[in-house]
Amino acid sequence: MDSLTELDSFLKSNGGPHSSTLPHKQPFVIGVAGGTASGKTTVCNMIISQLHDQRVVLVNQDSFYHPPSVEKLKKIHEYNFDHPNAFDTELLLSCMEKLKNGEAVSIPNYDFKGHKRSEQARQINPSDVFILEGIVILHDPRVRGLMNLKIFVDSDSDVRLSRRIQRDTVERGRNIENVLDQYARSVKPSFEEFILPTKKYADIIIPRGADNDVAIDLIVQHICTKLGQHDLCKIYSNVFVIFSTFQI
Ligand code: ADP
Ligand code: C5P
Repeated sequence: MDSLTELDSFLKSNGGPHSSTLPHKQPFVIGVAGGTASGKTTVCNMIISQLHDQRVVLVNQDSFYHPPSVEKLKKIHEYNFDHPNAFDTELLLSCMEKLKNGEAVSIPNYDFKGHKRSEQARQINPSDVFILEGIVILHDPRVRGLMNLKIFVDSDSDVRLSRRIQRDTVERGRNIENVLDQYARSVKPSFEEFILPTKKYADIIIPRGADNDVAIDLIVQHICTKLGQHDLCKIYSNVFVIFSTFQI
């Protein structure tokens, strides 16, 4: 039995005014932004693999892309997938609100080939740590407000473009001409207008992305320390509830 459960039983058996339920333990939320193919997902997976004792869930902002209308699908080469308005941020916020309240949610899976949400949604359960990853995840102040730690993955643009060509032609059903055209038309301009300016909100900037083992180790150490303090703070706040129960 953990100490919070013991405190909960103690409060219930003493019938104090705060005895109904303990507040839900708040998860630690990390935001990971950066340009396309900067290595955001790879960095997140490295952090997750080093946080083996914690329950960690990765939530990709891509899951919250608005599906373009039939009209817009006909002119898909003109659609800007790198604009903050391309994402359903209200849905992301409501899912995070539920998760923070200890409720499970269902989030869409995204199909990059068809530019749509897949039929099969993904079930996400409450967890100790959530990592929100995406190109403009640091853009909206309400989403930033959910985060305990903000990270910007900073990789060289030529490296990112060459990775993007490789990835999109192999995994996302594009040809080199599509990738280069989209890059020049919307990916690069939107990076400069919406993504790069969010670097200023980051607590930590990781140069060279996933190649930077030292930065990733430091981030993992920081998260472990904060998670320890998190638990301690919760226990202290419940001890305070016991004292106020006795005083009443
Ligand atoms: P993002 O999530 O920022 O779009 P990913 O982590 O998915 O980027 O990486 C994009 C592509 O580049 C993937 O194919 C990935 O395997 C590759 N990649 C990422 N980081 C590195 C790295 N440090 N060295 C080599 N390839 C990498
Ligand atoms: O994984 P990454 O961060 O690169 O994913 C975001 C990128 O996916 C954006 O730069 C956007 O141009 C691209 N995208 C796309 N087609 C879609 C949705 C997103 O090319 N249907």
